[in-house]
Amino acid sequence: MFSHLPPYAGDPILSLMEHYLRDERAGKVNLSIGIYADGHGAIPVLPSVRTADVELAGAPAPYTYLPMEGHAAYRQAVAALLFGDDLPGAEHLAVVQTLGGSGALKVGADLIARFFPQPTVWIPDPTWDNHIGIFEGAGFKTERYPYYDAQTKGLAFDAMLAKLESLPRGAVVLLHPCCHNPTGVDPLREQWAQIIDLIEHRGLLPFFDLAYQGFAESLEQDVWPVRECVRRGIAFFLSNSFSKIFSLYGERVGALSVFCPEAGQAANVLGQLKLTVRRNYSSPPMHGALIVARVLGDATLRAQWQAEVEQMRVRVRDMRIKLSEQLKSAVPDHDFSFLLRQHGMFGYTGLSAAQVDRLREEFGVYAVHSGRICVAGLNDSNVARVAEAMAEVLRG
Ligand code: LMR
Repeated sequence: MFSHLPPYAGDPILSLMEHYLRDERAGKVNLSIGIYADGHGAIPVLPSVRTADVELAGAPAPYTYLPMEGHAAYRQAVAALLFGDDLPGAEHLAVVQTLGGSGALKVGADLIARFFPQPTVWIPDPTWDNHIGIFEGAGFKTERYPYYDAQTKGLAFDAMLAKLESLPRGAVVLLHPCCHNPTGVDPLREQWAQIIDLIEHRGLLPFFDLAYQGFAESLEQDVWPVRECVRRGIAFFLSNSFSKIFSLYGERVGALSVFCPEAGQAANVLGQLKLTVRRNYSSPPMHGALIVARVLGDATLRAQWQAEVEQMRVRVRDMRIKLSEQLKSAVPDHDFSFLLRQHGMFGYTGLSAAQVDRLREEFGVYAVHSGRICVAGLNDSNVARVAEAMAEVLRG
């Protein structure tokens, strides 16, 4: 019956995690998957999350089905966090709770596939591998627009603009509002303004994927491109995730927001999103959303959580500084300042796939084949070892 099924080669990121867990070497370091570890190498339960969880346990409520669109207080809290003072009214905004950011991408992709029949979604080169999987899984072709310039280790801004300029009206363009995965290279504010000018005058349809709000500059500044589209009345899709910024990976807590500039259209969009959810998994799970709603809805817990996000952001930035300093002293003829210009959890090292293999096989340091490392996996006990291993493979 199943003999025609080919073997699965494994996911480029998740299979490294499996490999890492099987590795029995004592000094192994996992810099592959995008998970934040604290200064002791542990995945934290944020104190704000723990408090909310304890409070919820103290007042148990039945675990009934949530509506297809998710928990009402959660959806409101998410919209307020994303849009702040620019929060569009209900006639302009449709928000559904989703299974993490990936679930939001999938629901959005399915909706676009049904109502905007066009073969192609434009993704940055490079991007998170699963963008390709999710959009191709929904029936699209994916094509790349230039994003990263390997020479300058920065943004290929002119080439990016030129490609976007050439796209047909209505083309779907995937954008990372902050902490680009995998490169950590983000457009400057004035570059975003030019990108959005172009989206506006070419009539493109942005699909923003926001997994790291608060990890680049701040919760507010990191969503500037999204809010700018609201201010200008540009329609868009926005997936967001609480995996990293609430350290709630396994709870799968995310949302999909669709901004509809023409008043009155959001009700039908919401209805079709609900139908898309129903056809995929009926309704989302409850517990993680209750935690997020409670933290965001309580002034004290929210302030505590904001400080926790800031603490994570600063720790990762400090690790960037330590890694680049240690690399500099180990390989003085190399310039590692690019690591300091990147934002978010990831460092895009420029290491080749062969060098990444050596890092893993000889030194037990796990990175993604593209040369991406999760800087949030570094701490004072492992950074010197990682720098020395990287220096060794760079020396050849
Ligand atoms: C990553 O890029 O490592 C994370 O977003 C985790 C994942 O699901 O790939």
